[in-house]
Parts: sequence; structure tokens; C-alpha cells
Amino acid sequence: MPASSRQRVLSGMRPTGQFHLGHYHGVLKNWLKLQNEYECFFFIADWHALTTEYEDPRIIAECVWSNVIDWLAVGIDPGSAKLFIQSRVPEHAELHLLLSMCTPLGWLERVPSYKDQQEKLKNKDLTTYGFLGYPLLQCADIIIYRASYVPVGEDQVAHVELAREIARRFNFLYGRESGFEEKAENAARKMGKRNNNIYHELRRSYQEQGNTLSLDKARALIDTQQNISIGDRERLIGYLEGGGKIIFPEPQALLTHIPKVPGTDGQKMSKSYNNTIAIREAPKSVEEKIKTMQTDPARKRRKDPGTPEKCPVWDFHHIYSNDDVKAWVLDGCRNASIGCLECKQHIIDAVLKEQEPIRKRAREFERDPETVRGIISEGCEAARDIARDTLEEVRSVMGLSYR
Ligand code: TRP
Ligand code: SF4
Repeated sequence: MPASSRQRVLSGMRPTGQFHLGHYHGVLKNWLKLQNEYECFFFIADWHALTTEYEDPRIIAECVWSNVIDWLAVGIDPGSAKLFIQSRVPEHAELHLLLSMCTPLGWLERVPSYKDQQEKLKNKDLTTYGFLGYPLLQCADIIIYRASYVPVGEDQVAHVELAREIARRFNFLYGRESGFEEKAENAARKMGKRNNNIYHELRRSYQEQGNTLSLDKARALIDTQQNISIGDRERLIGYLEGGGKIIFPEPQALLTHIPKVPGTDGQKMSKSYNNTIAIREAPKSVEEKIKTMQTDPARKRRKDPGTPEKCPVWDFHHIYSNDDVKAWVLDGCRNASIGCLECKQHIIDAVLKEQEPIRKRAREFERDPETVRGIISEGCEAARDIARDTLEEVRSVMGLSYR
């Protein structure tokens, strides 16, 4: 199918460090599948990185290009997915600004990651305007391309949900024809005072809280009206659902199953825990990190039996090992018939084998920065073409076409 008739997927990653095995198994392997099924746009979210790295933004410039090379090296194909850098499509910022005019403060304050991240990243001052606006910028990223799907992990679902609410609100505010509102209000009055009140109550509940039960009830109410014309009926439905024109379709989260990728200390692999293995970690270092990785503390000595379920190395076996090896680990660990180093060697071998072709392709791209820059320039152009069109329509419906 040609890319243009496929549904659009959009996703971004923040350039705050080297990509690691958590990113590879959690995000990138999924992108590899999606790029064959959808029209994909993947971008480096450098402005998002700035919301947490603003005090010392050097890390962003240091890793942008190596992040892009990781994408290419794992097999993201610029022939099927468009790859770009957020700050090179400044329309994201313009849309973010325009959306900020009609985004209630409370909607941003109640996004769970806002308080959670402030708690978690105590060493950073995140009581900034930019950080509060993080999910709104993300919303702009998504709806500027009118993306249908946004592949994200559990922690980002609330952000996509907010993007849906904002799209709905924008359509409601700016998607109507002139005189529409007045006509719809007149039609509502024709249902009688009581029904008029119920209608408005249900409409508010749907539009402000997204309560679909209220939407159904209001539709049923309109259905039972005998004395209104077909035209009025349609106005009432349009007014209920958010007005005539849909400027931004509501994006949907594409929730992906993310396998548990343990860090070397047994916690989830994450830059902030300093427990990562980079996608292109040097082989010696991979070996060293896995050899010294946390195991079931019950196995202090070789002859102590262990419980694989209590061992982060076992999480790696779920990702890397076949059933035979897993059976060997379960048995050998519980009976103390294998040692942890033997057990870990399987993981070391599997990780090195997985990384070898990636490392090789990355070397080729590193030797040819012109090609990498060309790929990104092309992606930025393609993204910008769409973003420009969207902004033209946005300015027009908001009454800003006099410039
Ligand atoms: N917030 C995302 C993350 O931390 C990154 C991101 C920014 C993003 N804009 C996006 C993801 C738009 C999907 C769509 O992982
Ligand atoms: Fe973990 Fe393997 Fe050692 Fe068992 S044998 S504790 S699963 S490393």
C-alpha cells in the first residue's frame, strides 16, 4: 500500500543519553514492526529533553546524532519511516503556543507525570512553565500530523489521553460555521425547558470530561424528540459532539507490551538509575556488566540453591533464551547444579550476538555523517510540509489569517 493511504503513526524519543537495551526491546523493536504497517514519523524530541536538561543541555547535542545512528543501525528504514528532529520543525512550537491559549491550567496540573516526575527527579528544579507544558507540547507533536496512533508505554497513556481532550476542545471551539451555535441553541430550546437543561448538562459532561455515557444519553434524548426538524436534529448532534468541522482527529495510544528489561542492579533499566547497557556498548563492557550483575541474593555460594523468579538475570532469559535454556536455568538454579556465571554466559553471548550486526551498521553510518544528515534533512522536510499545512488551517480557523 502506498504510504499516503496508510494510517499515520507518530512517536518520539528524548535525546537525554545513549539508547540502551531497555529502549531497544521496549520501543525500537516495536517501531521496526510498525514501519511496515503504517506511515510512520519518528522524531528526536529535543525540546522535550530540554524540559529536564535545561540547566546543562550539553547532553542533548552530544547524543542526538548517535541516537539517530542507533535508530538506523537497529533497522529503522528511512525508506519507509520519516525521521526528523523536533526543533527543526518550528511549527510544533507555534501550535504549542496557540493550544496553550485554550488549555485549562487544571488539565495540565492533573496529568500524573507532572507531580510524579517532580518527586522522582528531586535533583532538578522542575517547577517551570516548560515542564508543566510538557504534555501540551507532546499533544502538538501528535496532532500537528493528525496521527491516528501513538505507540507508547503505560507511563505515556495519560499524555495521549490529554491530547485527545485537547483535540476535542479545539474542534469544539474552532470547528464551527458562523451562526451555528445560535441555531443549535434555538433548536435545543424547542425541546422544552427541562430537556434543554438536560441536553446542556449532558453536553458539558461529554465535552469537558469526555464522558461517553453522557454522549449516548444525549443522543437518545434527541432521538425521542417528536417536534423538531431534521435540520435541527443534526444541529443538536453536531453541537453535542463538538461542532461541525473536525480539525484534529483524536489520536489513539497504541499500547505496546514492554518486556521487563532489568538493569545491572535489578531495577528497571533506566538512565536515571545508572544501570544501563547501551545498544552499542563495547563488548568487553557488556561482558563485565553482566558478570557483575545482581543475582538472587540467596545464592551467595555456588552450592546455595536459588529462585530464578527473584533474579534479574532470569528476566533476561525471558527475552533472550529458548525454552530449553530456560528449563536448564530453572532446574539448575533451584538445584544449585549450575553456577551464576554459567547462567549469565548465555545472556552475554546472546546480547553480543544481537549487538554485532547493529554495531557494524552503526560504524558504517558513523563513517558517513553526510548520509545521516541527509536522511534527517529529508525527514524534516517531509514533516514540515505536513506541519505547515496544518498550521495554515489552524491560523485560519482561529481568525489569524491576516498576516
Ligand atoms: N514523552 C515521550 C517520552 O518521554 C517522548 C515524546 C515527546 C513523544 N513527544 C511525543 C512520544 C509524541 C510520542 C508522541 O517517551
Ligand atoms: Fe540468577 Fe541464573 Fe544465578 Fe539463578 S543461576 S541466581 S537465575 S544468575
